[in-house]
Amino acid sequence: MKRDIISMLDVEDILGELLVLAEEMKAGKYKDQAPLKGKKLAMIFEKSSTRTRVSFEVGMLELGGYALNLSMKDLQLGRGETVADTAKVLSRYVDGIMYRAYQHAMMLELSHNASVPVINALDDVEHPCQIMADLLTIKEYKGRLRGIKVAYVGDGNNVCNSLMLGAAMCGMDFIAAVPKGFEPDKERTGLAKSIADKYNGSVEIIDDPMVAAKGADAVYTDVWVSMGQENQAEERLKIFLPYQINKRLMSQAQPDAIAMHCLPAHRGMEISADVMDGPHSVVFDQAENRLHAQKAILIKLLGDTPEEKQWNQD
Ligand code: CP
Ligand code: NVA
Repeated sequence: MKRDIISMLDVEDILGELLVLAEEMKAGKYKDQAPLKGKKLAMIFEKSSTRTRVSFEVGMLELGGYALNLSMKDLQLGRGETVADTAKVLSRYVDGIMYRAYQHAMMLELSHNASVPVINALDDVEHPCQIMADLLTIKEYKGRLRGIKVAYVGDGNNVCNSLMLGAAMCGMDFIAAVPKGFEPDKERTGLAKSIADKYNGSVEIIDDPMVAAKGADAVYTDVWVSMGQENQAEERLKIFLPYQINKRLMSQAQPDAIAMHCLPAHRGMEISADVMDGPHSVVFDQAENRLHAQKAILIKLLGDTPEEKQWNQD
């Protein structure tokens, strides 16, 4: 049985293990040992990417494997071949498929039709790879995850959905301040609340950013206009103006709070330039940690060591 990571929900049972492996990878585990020697990863990009594209490609290279970058221009998918057929064909050539998609439904379609592991590299509902890097970053700065308060401010989007689930699984106190009508996914919010109960964490959705940031250990934001929402830009920019992470908002948080953003960022919009480039900012650590976290994911999903084989068959 193959394992996919489509949602943070797919890693609940092994999140702790993945984060430890990510820390070990960062410290140099398997350096020069090529644990994924001969393994091939197909990377399908329907949308732009800097961090995801480069960290997956470099990650595969560092693990001794190979990554194929496939944009819509390269694939017959861009000319109408179905996702299902693409999944079946690629499964005959490669050991894993990483997919950045517009629609979550297409992600699920690929996952159901591929016989090799599928990794969600962002769709309109989740961005699990980002959140594993973010949890690693918070752990590095705060020394632990349990009991840490993370305030997400802005759009209840893909990043917010995955962060909410990941925080709940780690026993964190997650609070999101989002404008009415831009709340995170309802079903995931319900699930995150039950998961948080299990791990003594909490999940709360409100609309006041100042209240959310109060006493927070980490304040997180993301763009107000996600890829695919460009036609709503004008309306969104007006609605989200009060949701900027700036010095005033950060002053509500703990004095040593970290300011987080998955990037790419728009200074002067969702985050002020002085916070983005100031002492609280850990955004470039988050970006670096994409590489380490994804190497852990790749070893877990594509690896052949007895430990990984067992995990994949469970
Ligand atoms: N954070 C993130 O996923 O960045 P890219 O869109 O550059 O991959
Ligand atoms: N929410 C953003 C994240 C980019 C990494 C988007 O989907 O465009």
